[in-house]
Amino acid sequence: MDFSAILRKRRTIRFYRQMPVAEKHLLKLVESACHAPSAANNQVLRYTVVRTPDLVQAVFYNTSYAGRVTPRRSPQWGVNAPTAFIAISAVKNGPVLSNMVYADAGAAVMSISFAAVEEKLGCCWIGAFKAKEVTELLAIPETEQILFLVAVGHPAETPVEDTIQQGESVAYYLDEFDRLHVPKYSVEAITRIL
Ligand SMILES: Cc1cc2nc3c(=O)[nH]c(=O)nc-3n(C[C@H](O)[C@H](O)[C@H](O)COP(=O)(O)O)c2cc1C
Repeated sequence: MDFSAILRKRRTIRFYRQMPVAEKHLLKLVESACHAPSAANNQVLRYTVVRTPDLVQAVFYNTSYAGRVTPRRSPQWGVNAPTAFIAISAVKNGPVLSNMVYADAGAAVMSISFAAVEEKLGCCWIGAFKAKEVTELLAIPETEQILFLVAVGHPAETPVEDTIQQGESVAYYLDEFDRLHVPKYSVEAITRIL
C-alpha cells in the first residue's frame, strides 16, 4: 500500500473482531514509533504492550469511546472490544512534563496508526482513560507518567471519511446502517496561502 492509500485508509476503529493480535504485530507497531520525530531527539517515550486477556480486560474497563455517539460506538467486552493496548508513557525529568513530550506522543501515535493500517489492524487513540488506575494495573514506574493508550485489534467496522467545507458540522455520526461517518475539512476550508 502506498503512503497516500495508508493516509486515507487510516480511521479510528472502535469495534474489533474477538481474536488476539500476535505479539510480533504489536511489536511492529511499537517499532514504527521508534522512528518518529522527537523534540531534541530526547526520546523520552516508553511503551507497554498489553495482550494478556485479563489485563486487557482490566484496562478496557478504564477506557471510554466515542463520546459524541455514546453508547453506540462503545465496544463491549467479549463482543467487540479491543484485544490489545499499547500504553505510552514518558520519563519524567521534573514535576511538569513539557508540551514537547505531548507532541512526541502525537507523532508516535500517528506512526503506530499508519503501521496498523499496513498490518491490517485497527486502533483507537485514547485520551479518555483513568490514568491512576491504568498506571497501577500496568505497574508503570514512578519515574514515568502515562500519556495515552492506543487500543488495538482486528477491525470490525469500516468508518468513512466525508469532506466538509467551513461552516459544516465536524461532529462524527452514525448513519441509518450504523456506519460511522467522519467529517474532515477540505484543504480549501482551512488553508491560507500568502
Ligand atoms: C488526542 C486524542 C485523544 C483521543 N481520545 C479518544 C478517546 O478517548 N476515545 C475515543 O473513542 N476516541 C478518541 N480519539 C479519537 C478521535 O475521536 C478521532 O480521531 C476523531 O473522531 C476523528 O476520527 P479519525 O481518527 O477516524 O479521523 C482521540 C483522538 C485524539 C487525537
